[in-house]
Amino acid sequence: MSTTIVKKVESGLTGSIKIPGDKSISHRAVMFGAIANGTTTVEGFLPGEDCLSTIDCFRKLGVKIEQEEEKVTIEGKGWEGLTEPSEILDVGNSGTTTRLMLGILATRPFHSVVIGDDSIAKRPMARVTDPLRSMGSDIDGRDNGNYTPLSIRGGETKAIAFESKVASAQVKSAILLAGLQSEGVTSVTEPALSRDHTERMLEAYGVEVKRDGLTVSVEGGQTLTAQHIVVPGDISSAAFFLVAGAIVPNSKITLEAVGLNPTRSGIIDVLKQMGADLVIHNEKMVGGEPLADVTISTSHLKGIEISGDLIPRLIDEVPVIAVLATQAEGQTVIRDAEELKVKETNRIDTVVSELKKLGANIKATEDGMIIEGRASLNGASVSSHGDHRIGMAMAIAGLITNGNVTVNRSDAIAVSYPSFFEHIEALKK
Ligand code: S3P
Repeated sequence: MSTTIVKKVESGLTGSIKIPGDKSISHRAVMFGAIANGTTTVEGFLPGEDCLSTIDCFRKLGVKIEQEEEKVTIEGKGWEGLTEPSEILDVGNSGTTTRLMLGILATRPFHSVVIGDDSIAKRPMARVTDPLRSMGSDIDGRDNGNYTPLSIRGGETKAIAFESKVASAQVKSAILLAGLQSEGVTSVTEPALSRDHTERMLEAYGVEVKRDGLTVSVEGGQTLTAQHIVVPGDISSAAFFLVAGAIVPNSKITLEAVGLNPTRSGIIDVLKQMGADLVIHNEKMVGGEPLADVTISTSHLKGIEISGDLIPRLIDEVPVIAVLATQAEGQTVIRDAEELKVKETNRIDTVVSELKKLGANIKATEDGMIIEGRASLNGASVSSHGDHRIGMAMAIAGLITNGNVTVNRSDAIAVSYPSFFEHIEALKK
């Protein structure tokens, strides 16, 4: 387990960096390529540990996949091309791999066993295994199928109209994927709109997807056709540098080709509402996803309330938004975010406990947190708790603390951003 020491930046962060590929889109490009007919090529793939877990699992399911850095080739042979794995499917730390793969396996007539790391073993899976069972798939696991290890025997399934209690793209995607091979029309209705990469990418692969407000539906019996997928930069990774640019004195940073899908861009809204000096330029559409360059400069910020439908649009950014809020004048309140409790760690607990060690004025609530700014932060020894986004949020805080921040278990960062510390170095003057 590695430790990284982060020092205060004395003379600002400047220059531009190319943000690594979007994690959600990279997973989907590989999974959908694996069930499509023909050879799919992917450029801009994120070679982070989570997406490599997806490649590993689909190789074990009999799909030929070549990957070199950001380029991936997947030789799809359609749904029937997946074969019974002789080995256990290990998803590592990846919730997206677990839940979306279960949706695909739900209709495959063979047996698989799914395991992951200690964090995955604590994450609730009933939110996908219950609806997939009700479609006809045979799933079991610890606590009646709520936790890994899980075993699944797919087979003939029928469509459902599912009302999800949570706004979760992983739940929505798993059910829609099973629906593609089930009899009838499968629909998912969410309480608020979660990220829609599955809908956009399925359409790119030639699938008909219907959307009506908060309901998405697909008709069973649809096949996918191989594609060339270009993955935009991950706004969830860009978020760390958007915050760094805003809070480190004398900074001006440009982040290139960042995905700005409206179901993901809540961090941009938050920065604007807080008064950040942020410019979006070179906007374009690539493969059905909007992207642009974003320039951010050191800003005078004010506290705001973050709640409601905005939460699913920035759920992964809350750890670094908490760091941002420590430097905003006044109070920032984050509510309606109880989903944070079932991420890679309980992110209400881990954000609050680690930021307190740096001297932040932050308090946990039932569904979020309250942060009082502006705080003068000090150095301390903190831990990622094995959660990549907690590790990176603490490292960004370390750029402005008086005294060094020691980030323990910093190896977790490779889950989504292997070049994170190199990018910090590249922006130092
Ligand atoms: C993801 C969906 C979100 C997000 C996760 C990636 C996806 O999770 O937090 O990092 O790729 O579909 P939920 O579906 O649990 O909200």
